[in-house]
Amino acid sequence: MASEMMGPPEEKGPQEAGDIRAAAAREREGREAAATDGAGQAVPGCHALASSLGAPSDGGESGVVKGTPVIAVQAITKHFGSVQALRGVDLEIHGGEVVGLVGDNGAGKSTLVNILSGGLQPNSGSIFVQGRKVTFSSSLEARRLGIETVYQDLSLAPDLTVWANIFLGRELKVKGPLRVFGWLDRKAMAASAEADLERTRIRIQSVSSLAGRLSGGQRQAIAVGRAVAWGSRVILMDEPTAALGVEQQERVGELVSSVAAHGVPILLISHNLPQIHRLCDRVVVLFRGQVVANLRPAESEVDEIVSWITGAALGARRSA
Ligand SMILES: Nc1ncnc2c1ncn2[C@@H]1O[C@H](COP(=O)(O)OP(=O)(O)O)[C@@H](O)[C@H]1O
Ligand SMILES: [Mg+2]
Repeated sequence: MASEMMGPPEEKGPQEAGDIRAAAAREREGREAAATDGAGQAVPGCHALASSLGAPSDGGESGVVKGTPVIAVQAITKHFGSVQALRGVDLEIHGGEVVGLVGDNGAGKSTLVNILSGGLQPNSGSIFVQGRKVTFSSSLEARRLGIETVYQDLSLAPDLTVWANIFLGRELKVKGPLRVFGWLDRKAMAASAEADLERTRIRIQSVSSLAGRLSGGQRQAIAVGRAVAWGSRVILMDEPTAALGVEQQERVGELVSSVAAHGVPILLISHNLPQIHRLCDRVVVLFRGQVVANLRPAESEVDEIVSWITGAALGARRSA
């Protein structure tokens, strides 16, 4: 990865701080409270979850209650006019799990992710976070509960540095008297961003590089790193590797594994079935808005996944 780096551009001056603030304003509301304590220290997202949902009685600090899914949906339906995109979908994601969500184009994968991430409201059905029923009226509300989504377009600001991207919306103010002027503690943010990336074994030569100069795989890594840095409960990835080359896809794969190894579950949508088969603990197949299969790659070959995606397995079962 490092070999693809361009020379690290100089950090920008106050202009950048202004840019960060402007970009941050879009998603700051509500985020700050969850992300920083009074001393300006980043705190894990579980605190945000705990404060809004109440700490799980048997889950303790780790927040992951054994047996209770981190996130679950029941009987979710969604239609767009006469198009029935989801027809009664049930799905559970447990701590540390990598769950693959696959299906043909139009099967309803993105609709389901958008419902989980608060971008769309279902017509019926329920969403549960740590066993508590929730409703989201915006993606901000989902993010407050630690549900981070990484889209294909990554939503990174290309003209900001890596560290600035990681801190978008949760800037650290300098301590002391200058704090009232809203001065940003750039050194602390750069150091913390470096530590965040280190934790996820994301290799970026310099956190002062502009995001726009990085390769697709590296930008993907930052988007995921940002989600991890925020202390996410669960990371939803909608076709994160679609625009990437083979090697970069493998890097994202490694990233998925290392994030899951930290206990943060991932819902991964991808058409790269060999990779899905290799990475996932479980593969859920959507077919015309319904879950038709819930497979364990250890027990199912790629061919079997394909036959559920195309509906062939369904036909075979019906005629049997
Ligand atoms: N905003 C929308 N308006 C109308 N139809 C939509 C909208 N979003 C998705 N659909 C339809 O819902 C179905 C599921 O789409 P989608 O969830 O994007 O599938 P996938 O991600 O599996 O390819 C498709 O028939 C699609 O055309
Ligand atoms: Mg889609």
